[in-house]
Amino acid sequence: MQIAIIADLHANLEATLAVFKEIDKRKPDRIVCLGDLTGYNANPNEVVDIIREREIPCIMGNHDAAVCGLEDPWFFRAAAKQVIEWQINELRDDNRRWLSMCPEQIVFRGTCLGVHGSPSSRDDYIIDWLDAMRQLEYLNGRDVTICFFGHSHRPSFFSEKGNTTVSNSNIRQFQPANRYFVNPGAVGQPRDRDPRAAYGFYDTDKNTFEFCRIEYDIDTCQRKILAAGLPMELARRLAVGK
Ligand SMILES: [Fe+2]
Repeated sequence: MQIAIIADLHANLEATLAVFKEIDKRKPDRIVCLGDLTGYNANPNEVVDIIREREIPCIMGNHDAAVCGLEDPWFFRAAAKQVIEWQINELRDDNRRWLSMCPEQIVFRGTCLGVHGSPSSRDDYIIDWLDAMRQLEYLNGRDVTICFFGHSHRPSFFSEKGNTTVSNSNIRQFQPANRYFVNPGAVGQPRDRDPRAAYGFYDTDKNTFEFCRIEYDIDTCQRKILAAGLPMELARRLAVGK
């Protein structure tokens, strides 16, 4: 079984369309979304509509919670907060209702857990291996072998039994009797200095995860940010992937 994993679409319609075009070519059995359909870019309704129409299971991200009025964005940076305020008016009521019903976590394939930030909180970042290991206590007593997460916007692969091997391959192998934290990277605002949209595939037969990237129409997305009167810095960062 092939499961496409996507995260942090952030109202970036151009990146979302490019990623789905690639995903559809592979005809995966399932698609799972790790949240943050909103924030940062100019097409929140269009991106939410796509996920809703495809009936993709989706977690609520921190930007989604803020847009729904379920989380106070006081700790957001100024630019992010400005977009939230704009999107609060922009988002249709039916999309807000749908987003506010998205769960905090999802379990799929029995032992796979999907979260936005981390098992402890959608707001907590897993940036490095130590962050991931600190989260293991939140998996205790749960039959979880792979925790898929987003939020950091960085493709990541951390294993409980050490993460010292650097791989040049974009395909990583899961081993039995080990636990993993995997982030496919961000569709709508990559931050690993690669501006291409990021996503991935979990192959349950081969027990592998494949990190994928695809170029998209950044110019159009940037123009929409500026046309909506949103901060220039958000348009700039898309071009450099940070
Ligand atoms: Fe995000």
